[in-house]
Amino acid sequence: MADKKLMRALAGERMDVPPAWMMRQAGRYLPEYKATRAHAGDFLSLCYNPELAAEVTLQPIRRFGFDAAILFADILLVPQALGADLWFVTGEGPRLSVIEDRAGVDDLKPADRIHDVLSPVYETVRILSRELPSDVALIGFAGAPWTVATYMIAGRGTPDQGPAHALKDRDRAAFDALIDRITEATIAYLDQQIQAGAEVVKLFDSWAGSLKGADFQRYAVDPTRTIIAALKARHPHVPVIAFPRQAGDGYIGFAKATGADCVALDDSVDAAWAARNVQIDGCVQGNLAPRHMVTGGQPLVDAVRRIRDAFSGGPHVFNLGHGITPDADPNNVTLMLRTLREG
Ligand code: CP3
Repeated sequence: MADKKLMRALAGERMDVPPAWMMRQAGRYLPEYKATRAHAGDFLSLCYNPELAAEVTLQPIRRFGFDAAILFADILLVPQALGADLWFVTGEGPRLSVIEDRAGVDDLKPADRIHDVLSPVYETVRILSRELPSDVALIGFAGAPWTVATYMIAGRGTPDQGPAHALKDRDRAAFDALIDRITEATIAYLDQQIQAGAEVVKLFDSWAGSLKGADFQRYAVDPTRTIIAALKARHPHVPVIAFPRQAGDGYIGFAKATGADCVALDDSVDAAWAARNVQIDGCVQGNLAPRHMVTGGQPLVDAVRRIRDAFSGGPHVFNLGHGITPDADPNNVTLMLRTLREG
């Protein structure tokens, strides 16, 4: 395990060719994913079918030879396991039952009761830890509490996370109780993923960018630090990647403040700036703009080289700044990896 490139980078090793994987690497831009998904039925049925979830996790590994596989699941399975209704509307995205007040938070299940719903996910991890090639690392994940809360409060994705900010400002105690419940559930969930065989875990805080000032500290930094401290107490050698997307200056010092082993950078961050201000504290991941996987060509080649060179002075995990989109061309993924690995 110590030889896996991803583990070495996360431990702080600089490499001429960094390990690479992609957010959403199992997804609709791959015909084989679409075929398996059609077979499974809807998206949630795929998430809860361990054999098929493992199969779609392996598809991009077989096709491209990435250095890491990310468990196929979704950050919104935790709210569902806490008792929220969850469904996906084709072409629109997720829908959940809405939490409006303290009573809504109190109606949720206790954090230690999530495993009935989530046990198929742990089975997916067990299958993957048997079936992955020996040089490929397995990444488990969860949403960070703020991002998960934004979906539970609005009942859907929102451009500005307005409903979550409104509940926070109207009833701080109810909002804090929700953050605490999600934090506890996330610790229990990631602990089980690690016990099942996840070698690394990642926390997705996709909406961290809308938290400012004291709120960024209280709802992006603090819950992340709490989760990492609890996991490190049980699994000191399992590295954690934190992704406070669009945090801007909030990226500075984020690894130190939270205990994360690696900070994932979105594509709004300039790589040279991030090398000076973020990579000085340890490993960084990212930050290729996902649109290059649609448009390809020389701009893709140039962007891959620029990012690789900017981060060449320290530990780096090559990745996109956000998930690959359904309109991406798989040939551009091949070009990205060839450029990265062959110069
Ligand atoms: O390959 C991987 O990265 C692993 C699997 C994974 C999925 N979602 C599968 C998925 C991971 C790590 C996620 C994380 C996730 N899910 C996040 C955080 C990262 C981010 O993108 O900011 C968020 C916010 C979600 C919630 C979610 N799930 C939304 C908003 C949507 C709809 C948007 C869309 O792309 O359709 C999903 C659906 C989803 N999750 C799909 C996949 C492959 C597409 C579903 C399908 O097959 O129809």
